[in-house]
Order: sequence, then C-alpha cells, then structure tokens
Amino acid sequence: MLVLEKNALTAEIEILVEKYGNDRSALLSILQEIQKNHNHVSDFAQQEIARLLDIHPVEVFSVISFYAFLNTKPKGRNIVRLCQTITCDLMGKEAVAKAIERELGIEFGDTTKDKKCTLEYANCLGMCDQGPAMIVNDKVYSHLTPEKAVEILNEIK
Ligand code: FES
Repeated sequence: MLVLEKNALTAEIEILVEKYGNDRSALLSILQEIQKNHNHVSDFAQQEIARLLDIHPVEVFSVISFYAFLNTKPKGRNIVRLCQTITCDLMGKEAVAKAIERELGIEFGDTTKDKKCTLEYANCLGMCDQGPAMIVNDKVYSHLTPEKAVEILNEIK
C-alpha cells in the first residue's frame, strides 16, 4: 500500500515537472499544485521534487518554510491566525491567545484532532488601530477580547 502511494505521488510530480519544466523556476508552481492537491507537501514529496528538479531537498524545504500558504503537515479545514505583532501584543493579544488555546484545546502551531482548526500566529494584519486582531480563513476580526474570540470560534466549530 505504502509503495503504491509513493508511486502515485511520484507519478503526479513527474506530470507537474513535464508541465512546468525541470529547472529551479518550476519549483514554486510544483509546490503550489502539490499543496492544493494534498493540503500539504510531505517529506516524500519534497524529496521527489528535489530529485526530479536535481536540486537539494534543503532548497525545497526552505521555499516551503518561506511561504505561509505552503506547509509540510496537513492543516485543519479552518485556519485561525492571531496577530502577534507589537501593537496587538500591547493591546491584549496574550489574554486572547490563552482563551483561544483553551477553547480549541491546542497550542499555537497545532491542529485539532478532528482536523477542524489549525491555530497559528500571524504578523501584522494591517488592523493595528483595532487590535488585537485575528484572521479566520479569509475573514478579519478586530477589537478582540478573550470572550469575543471564543464566540467567533464557536461559530466555526
Ligand atoms: S500589529 Fe496586529 S494588526 Fe498590526
């Protein structure tokens, strides 16, 4: 079974290499497609992409690490990102962060067991005058309090 999965993923990457070419400039496009199709880029996928593009796996990993929309583990169906930048920090981000962790039962960087939510920190969301702020999927919430954050999470749960 494992061998079949590996072969299917390799075949998929080979098709993408044919589509985008086998030089470095194809890397991001290939990663985006694998992310879209599998909700993450596994270690095996990274190694196969590196092998087929004839680049070092570290290069593949560093591109994934750079872009927030690429990840090495599957994420939840909802992505909750709380701003951790200085203004939100001064406006009470920490209390909101604790309330969110308590409500979801996970820490930042983790995904709930039911794969419903992934919790992450984000950098400035451009709502500094209305902090603390967070973004849930593509919707921004501002003037958060611990209670308001919990209410928002209950809507998506
Ligand atoms: S510092 Fe949080 S939105 Fe700008």
